Amino acid sequence: MIDKSLLELPGVRKLFPLLGLLAFFQAVAIAGQALFLAATLTGLWERKTMSQMAYSAFAFFAFFMLRELVNFIRQKILDKFAYHLAQELRENLLKKIFKLGPSAIEELGTGTTAATVISGIDLVENYIKLVLSKVLNMMLIPVFIWLVVVVLDWRSAIILLITFPLAIVFMILLGYTAQARAARQYESFQLLSNHFLDSLRGIATLKYFGKSKAYANSIHKTSEEFRTATMATLRLAMLNNFALDFFATLSIASVALFLGLRLMDSHILLFPALATLILAPEYFLPLREFASDYHATLNGKNALASINDVMALDENIFSELPEKVKWSEDSELKLKQLSKLYENERGVKDINISLKGYQKIALVGASGSGKSTLLSMLAGFLTPSSGSLELNSQILSSLTENKWRESLLFIPQQSYIFSASLRDNIRFYEPNATDEEVNTALQLAGLKELDLSLDDQIGAGGRTLSGGQMQRIALSRAFLSKDRSILCLDEPTAHLDIETELEIKENILPLLENKLVFLATHRLHWLPEMDLVILLDEGEVRGIGSHEELKATNHYYRELLEEMS
Ligand SMILES: Nc1ncnc2c1ncn2[C@@H]1O[C@H](COP(=O)(O)OP(=O)(O)OP(=O)(O)O)[C@@H](O)[C@H]1O
Ligand SMILES: [Mg+2]
Repeated sequence: MIDKSLLELPGVRKLFPLLGLLAFFQAVAIAGQALFLAATLTGLWERKTMSQMAYSAFAFFAFFMLRELVNFIRQKILDKFAYHLAQELRENLLKKIFKLGPSAIEELGTGTTAATVISGIDLVENYIKLVLSKVLNMMLIPVFIWLVVVVLDWRSAIILLITFPLAIVFMILLGYTAQARAARQYESFQLLSNHFLDSLRGIATLKYFGKSKAYANSIHKTSEEFRTATMATLRLAMLNNFALDFFATLSIASVALFLGLRLMDSHILLFPALATLILAPEYFLPLREFASDYHATLNGKNALASINDVMALDENIFSELPEKVKWSEDSELKLKQLSKLYENERGVKDINISLKGYQKIALVGASGSGKSTLLSMLAGFLTPSSGSLELNSQILSSLTENKWRESLLFIPQQSYIFSASLRDNIRFYEPNATDEEVNTALQLAGLKELDLSLDDQIGAGGRTLSGGQMQRIALSRAFLSKDRSILCLDEPTAHLDIETELEIKENILPLLENKLVFLATHRLHWLPEMDLVILLDEGEVRGIGSHEELKATNHYYRELLEEMS
């Protein structure tokens, strides 16, 4: 009847004694009002004068006013309480959403998020107002009234006692169905919000491709679904109220019938009979009031549940990196079930690796085994299709954030040459480097003999370069860059002849110290220099260990080495 999450809202539990006390006062007022009304009417029936009855008429009026006053005070308290609680809830929710960040909103749906913050909170506010007082009234008032009726006329009290549980059982039965319907209604409301907002945001594109009409139809369809769900809920609500009213009226009518029969036979006095008759509808009233608002509260209940779902989300999963990553001795990176599958089902699958501190890691495997795919994910240029990463205990779904990319240097398998001067091409990672520094970098990459000046245009429209020259330009970018602590190198020397490669390797090796280095390679001579070798085969890890370890234990690795040599 009253869900736990409501009780867990701040201040709700404290409000209960107060609302209970008000319900008690209301019960007293109802009883007093009924008793004095009955007394006044009985007196008039016995031909007493109005002035003789003034005292009890006044008492009736006083209880009537007390009842209204209690209602008024309760309403005020609840309005204020619900308003403040809703505000607090909205603030917390917004804070949470900001912390979760854009990818979480993407996941939840922009429309759903907006609908939850705007109308969801209103529904919860209404829910709090309605449900708190009505539940307490329903639990306390009928009991009190029934006790009064017992004293007045125990036979009527028995009728009331028997019919009450019947009404409740019926209501609970219908209530369960209503709950399911309301949940569906809320779901289709969220769907509609998402659908509408997404279409609105993409309206320019939709119009451009002439698809706006089709989308209008689909929005119409979604809103029709929402309408149907709403009507179904309403129908049930009507049925529920009808059933309850029917039971209550039946019960009151039986009480009235028996009272009338006994009055005619003079088995009961007019006063208790009248008072019982007036109290009988009051006995059912709190239940009917609860039922009539029950469906309105269900939406609030669902909204509260979806707000709680958002509040319970783990911020780390969606969070952005707090600052630029500086890889250090204590840094840790874990890949957990990381996969990237292309449409053709190729790629890499279920990679689990834990890395700590400065390490030089080689990625080896036959052509097509997934080296470049894994490296591109590590470099933040590919989004994994499943799995997660943990960077210094922060959970991430990908490394595609700029803060990660800005900390690393990536030489892809096909190095990219911009249509710009040689100088600017080399200063790619360090735009402020001096010519002297650029020249040193060129020297280290073995590009000195190239008959080019720093001002010469290369790339599209400029001088054409060979594969080996382009690769060396990419390498000189690496030589120039100073404070990038993560290196992702995809076959950095593949296009070079073996003599040049060995020469440049001597320059590259110092560059790999005190960093986290991933190097995908086909060349055997790199492997003894590395701390760790990851052996890939058809997108899966076939072995991890040092070169020596793998050579000693891994049959597949030995085969691969033979092919490579
Ligand atoms: N963009 C893509 N679309 C579809 N499939 C792809 C794509 N890129 C790579 N693949 C496939 O994924 C698998 C892994 O490719 P990847 O380029 O990662 O291998 P690799 O080990 O780097 O190979 P190589 O040694 O030839 O560079 C291969 O089967 C490849 O055909
Ligand atoms: Mg590759």
